[in-house]
Amino acid sequence: MPARKTPAARPAPRKRAPPRRRAAPDALAMLRDDHRKVAALFAQVARLRQDGARKASLVERICRELSVHAKVEEEIFYPAARTVLRHHADVDEADVEHATLKALVAELERAKPGDDHYDAKVKVLGEYVRHHVKEEQETLFPKLRRTPLDLAVLGERIGARKRELAALLAHPEALDDAMRRFVPIV
Ligand SMILES: [Fe+2]
Ligand SMILES: [Fe+2]
Repeated sequence: MPARKTPAARPAPRKRAPPRRRAAPDALAMLRDDHRKVAALFAQVARLRQDGARKASLVERICRELSVHAKVEEEIFYPAARTVLRHHADVDEADVEHATLKALVAELERAKPGDDHYDAKVKVLGEYVRHHVKEEQETLFPKLRRTPLDLAVLGERIGARKRELAALLAHPEALDDAMRRFVPIV
């Protein structure tokens, strides 16, 4: 009688490596991304030759991006910077610049292309944003890189808040009064 073949031992299932989590961008990279995005939108508006729906929608988008960006900086980023920087002059200056930026954003949200001073307001807002971004990126960010501030954790908090704000903007009826003051509804 032929010897019965014993079934070959099945190879043990290979353990699958856990999916590698892609490192989230740190807070500074995330804010730089926002800055780049807004600069690109301003450049698109500057190339437009005519007033109209395209200009209105680009400016609307600029206002929304700036509102969310300013809010996460004021709520999360600047307070964190204050905890690690000995001198707060840069952050104080940024706060004051935000106030001016937000006033211009609010004016543009009430206006439409073709209105008196509309293009001038867009242009001045763009120049102002460029100045503010330069100060953040060339002065504040390098100082923060030299502190023990955990920029990865801060990046996660900023990312989560931005997602929350985007959802709120998609459903403005859910915004409470406090939010409404910070995030103009477009
Ligand atoms: Fe800022
Ligand atoms: Fe910024």
